Amino acid sequence: MSAVESTSVIIFGASGDLTYRKLVPAFYHLFGKDRLPENFHVLGLSRSEWDDETFRNRMEEGVKQFASDSFSQESWKAFREKLHYYPFDLSDAEGYRACAKHLAGIEKQKTNRMYYLATAPQFFPIAIQHLGDNGMVDDRDGWRRVIVEKPFGHDLQSAHQLNDTIHRYLREEQIYRIDHYLAKETVQNILVLRFGNTIFEPLWNRNYIDHVQITAAESVDVGHRGGYYDDSGVLRDMFQNHLLQLLSLVAMEAPASFDADALRNEKVKALATVRPIPLEKVYANVIIGQYEGYLKTKEVASNSRTPTYAAARLYLDNWRWQGVPFYLRSGKALKEKSTEILIQFNAPPHVMFPLEMGETIRANLLSICIQPHEGIHLRFEAKVPDTPAKMRSVDMDFHYDDDFGHLAIPEAYERLLLNALNGDASLFTRADGIEEAWRIIDPILTVCEAGVVPIAKYPKGSWGPKEANDFMGQHGHEWRLGCVSD
Ligand code: BG6
Repeated sequence: MSAVESTSVIIFGASGDLTYRKLVPAFYHLFGKDRLPENFHVLGLSRSEWDDETFRNRMEEGVKQFASDSFSQESWKAFREKLHYYPFDLSDAEGYRACAKHLAGIEKQKTNRMYYLATAPQFFPIAIQHLGDNGMVDDRDGWRRVIVEKPFGHDLQSAHQLNDTIHRYLREEQIYRIDHYLAKETVQNILVLRFGNTIFEPLWNRNYIDHVQITAAESVDVGHRGGYYDDSGVLRDMFQNHLLQLLSLVAMEAPASFDADALRNEKVKALATVRPIPLEKVYANVIIGQYEGYLKTKEVASNSRTPTYAAARLYLDNWRWQGVPFYLRSGKALKEKSTEILIQFNAPPHVMFPLEMGETIRANLLSICIQPHEGIHLRFEAKVPDTPAKMRSVDMDFHYDDDFGHLAIPEAYERLLLNALNGDASLFTRADGIEEAWRIIDPILTVCEAGVVPIAKYPKGSWGPKEANDFMGQHGHEWRLGCVSD
């Protein structure tokens, strides 16, 4: 295929929130950084009866709100010309030819195409099938790629089915499945921390690590997303994707190269070693909760048992991690927003310093703060001055803001869109990775949905149900957040 100089992004679901808040602002940022390909167009598709002008005006509001740091009238004037709109019902099989014709009219030459499925998930297979049947993903006249938003499936079976449908029309390398956590700078930095340094990796195993905690706490509640959320819950919304992706980056072996497949092979291998929790043991390894007031949310069933909080203990069956618990937790309406990975090392095997009654030596902690206080903290013991040998924990800190400046961290979608345009799939999940993650979550869902695990209520603005603290206590551990002040 000869090099094609023109690129279109076709967004299905263009009147939705994602396009308004994330996609168009991210393209606008990339445009400002001169990172978009030449001859670049966005074609928004949705059922709203808009024209180019209405779409552009609406997107201007979004860009002003969500890319305000870099908004200028001059660059907006140049960028808005790239935005186009076509009213379109994606379930109308007959409409695709006319849509393709409209698109060709904008492109006027051989053009690469990136289709972005920013719709409700039930439309993913429909859109892909019609694109396929209408020859719109044949890559004779430029590459054809499809970005698929989350959620990818509702359980293992539906995810497998969706993969099958997609593979009928597309090769795996044409598919970019989104998990926006992978595009967070701090998440990408996990690889650099582990494999770009020599001091961590020798300790990164069962011989030195007592346990790992992965927390994704959100202060926001479900808000206006009741309909989606009640059908999904925290296990599908956060665990199956974001938390397990973080786990795989912490647990994986070093890939031989920074190539999408080498990287994803190792991540999938790590996920494949996660021991599925047998149905009868879910009760002892998983806590689920629901914040008080959730049942009053619009579009939430009044007797809903959907968890808005969950904590789980997982083990990996391999040489590196055998016997090391990985604790995962996530919840909505919690006290603070904080996403963090905490590595608790073993305590020293013998303490030669005098301890006070009841005092024990504290183990070293490494906190990788994903957001919002992006950075890394290493907590270790130091001697308190002017005492014989009294110890106190102190921190060695790295903050992105201090070292790289306040605006150094781009929006995750910017990186994702740019990588997809450049054909780099390393930050996207592969079919096998998605299915491994569902394999882990499925038994937990089965048991929780059968009502076997009681659902604990927790007050909004707390750190979740008391049961989750008791659960850690029973195993001799305690939830910690190195990046949050209290
Ligand atoms: C999304 C979930 O994938 O991630 C939301 O659907 C959640 O429920 C969001 O709020 C959290 O993302 P972030 O980047 O704010 O941590």
